[in-house]
Amino acid sequence: MKRGEWAVLALIGLMVGGVMVRNILTTSGPGTDPAKDRGIPFYTTASPDLARAGADLVRQNQCRQCHSLWSVRDMMQAVPSPPLDGMGSLRDEAWLFQYFSASNPQAVLPSRLKPEYRMPSYKDLPEADRRTLARYVASLKVQDWYLEETRKTEFEKLTGKDYKP
Ligand code: HEC
Repeated sequence: MKRGEWAVLALIGLMVGGVMVRNILTTSGPGTDPAKDRGIPFYTTASPDLARAGADLVRQNQCRQCHSLWSVRDMMQAVPSPPLDGMGSLRDEAWLFQYFSASNPQAVLPSRLKPEYRMPSYKDLPEADRRTLARYVASLKVQDWYLEETRKTEFEKLTGKDYKP
């Protein structure tokens, strides 16, 4: 073989090797390597009392018919509503209180869903319960790295471009 041919072969070898190494690296990303698994990104800042009162109200008012909380929702429901996990990183207590108190929640947050799927008004709940619910939901936080990863995935899915923070 001539010199030039060896050089081409060597180059091909390098490229194949590079792809193999990359495949090994990308298949051992988060999720497959337990050492890199950062765990569940959701947490609450609620005191034990608030957590108990909040969970009671969520159960009494059947929020899980439509929303997941701690990644759990009622089996029979198929409403495409946002999860409550991490909601406190998106909305604050004052916003939540006025949302739960609104006679028409869709005036606060527009909905594209069928009327029977939409967020119901909780204005008839006692004010103390609406305040507790608002405080509890505001305590449901999500870790920053998870938000950042979600933004990145969404951006790349929608645009096909690389995401730069
Ligand atoms: C019938 C289904 C249903 C029930 C029951 C329900 N929700 Fe909703 N909720 C929705 C939908 C759907 C939305 C998205 C807005 C819309 O489409 O009206 C929503 C929106 C929200 C939002 C705002 C989300 C955002 O993106 O800012 C919060 C907070 C919320 N719900 C909390 C609750 C709580 C707490 C309960 C129980 C007290 C509850 N929901 C009960 C369907 C429901």
